[in-house]
Amino acid sequence: MLIKNSESHFGVVAILFHWAMAILIIGLLILGLYMVRLPISLEKLKFYGWHKECGMLAFLLVIARSIWRVSNLIPSLTLPWWEKLAARTVHYAFYGFMFAMPITGWIITSSSGLPVSFFGLFVFPDLISPNPDTMQLFQQIHKWLGYGLIATIFLHAAAALKHHFIDKDDILRRMLY
Ligand code: HEM
Repeated sequence: MLIKNSESHFGVVAILFHWAMAILIIGLLILGLYMVRLPISLEKLKFYGWHKECGMLAFLLVIARSIWRVSNLIPSLTLPWWEKLAARTVHYAFYGFMFAMPITGWIITSSSGLPVSFFGLFVFPDLISPNPDTMQLFQQIHKWLGYGLIATIFLHAAAALKHHFIDKDDILRRMLY
């Protein structure tokens, strides 16, 4: 297996980024939806802390992943033009979500006057000063982006499974090995 992508295959770094971020983001979605429904408690605060730290990890990873993507070939898709357009649109939408989710989460936290710590190693600077109206607005934005991301994940997974089981091509396989 190659480190970098080739014209027809993903390299090991792109594959690791893909699956590590898939697991991290799906975990963040489940944790986010669960924790907001808990009554105020120490447990809720602990989950918020984990969510924020893992969310910032996702942010650092998407920056590294984007740098890797632009400095690599993107394996070509041999598909009808409309399917290629749909696939690329979904891929770019994912990058939009992967940046927008952590940034809006960071804004919620800064606007509520709380720090964003990174696993106790350091604290990220506040993006804006505390403001309850801004906090409420960005809570809504973060929530609806989350719902949009969930819908996009289902679409993406359904398309990958269709290619694997119905079209029997190598689109899913090349993101595995
Ligand atoms: C890819 C990264 C992230 C994903 C997928 C994600 C996902 C979610 C989801 C689905 C919710 C529940 C929304 C609701 O139902 O109201 C949520 C809530 C929340 N997230 Fe994130 N999040 C991410 C990153 C972050 C980051 C980096 C922070 C802060 C530094 C953050 C802070 C929050 C906070 C404070 C809430 C609770 C909002 C409330 O109380 O209404 N998130 N997140």
